Amino acid sequence: MSCFLSNSSLGKKLVMSVTGAFLVLFILFHMSMNITAIISPEAYNMICALLGANWYALAGTAVLALGVLVHFIYAVILTLNNYKARGSQRYAVTVQEPGVAWASKNMLVLGFIILGGLLIHLFNFWSKMQLVEIMGGHVNSLGYSPADGAALIAYTFSKWYYVVIYLVWFFALWFHLTHGVWSMFQTVGWANDTWYPRLKCIANIVATIVFLGFAAVVLVYFFCPCIAGVC
Ligand code: HEM
Repeated sequence: MSCFLSNSSLGKKLVMSVTGAFLVLFILFHMSMNITAIISPEAYNMICALLGANWYALAGTAVLALGVLVHFIYAVILTLNNYKARGSQRYAVTVQEPGVAWASKNMLVLGFIILGGLLIHLFNFWSKMQLVEIMGGHVNSLGYSPADGAALIAYTFSKWYYVVIYLVWFFALWFHLTHGVWSMFQTVGWANDTWYPRLKCIANIVATIVFLGFAAVVLVYFFCPCIAGVC
């Protein structure tokens, strides 16, 4: 079984699809939680305090980090294998095949952009919240409590360049999900003639909900910073 998952192309795609599904579920959960920061910054901070550095939050973080790592490593291996398999063909003039979306051919590039955005994001939030608690601190480098997620959101998105960087990041994620969510179902054999257009449509809807949900938080906090009492 482990040989199948690491040696065969289908096995590797299956690993991509399972870790991808897990990451999409995390992203939907994270986005829904962030919307709370618009509705009630106090409620959002209560959730942040609940998640903090408790054993279950730390276990969740470890599983999440493993999911990102495996998804990324397998993506690189699959892309390199495809590249090798094409051999000298890669130098031939490629004709744009109809129906092959730009995102499907640039998943690894989009993945690198998303990973870069994630590192900036972890520096902005995780290192000033959960990491501070792990280290036993009671205030972060900005002087906020590590559970005051709303104040940190207000601080981060008071800077125009973070608004731009995050929106570009969400846009790359949108592209990645329009192909990724559909491809996930195709790998497990769900994409027949009837379901192909439906799954494409579902992927576009999921990607757009994720984009709008995350972007709403950034834009609301940029234009109305007083929402979290930081103004
Ligand atoms: C408006 C956009 C976003 C906001 C306001 C936001 C907010 C946060 C906050 C406050 C934390 C720290 C939680 C803690 O340490 O207790 C966090 C962690 C994290 N965020 Fe986001 N986030 C946003 C978008 C995203 C996106 C688009 C992704 C993924 C593509 C993402 C992935 C993560 C990850 C992986 C963590 C670490 C989770 C953990 O420690 O278990 N975030 N985010």
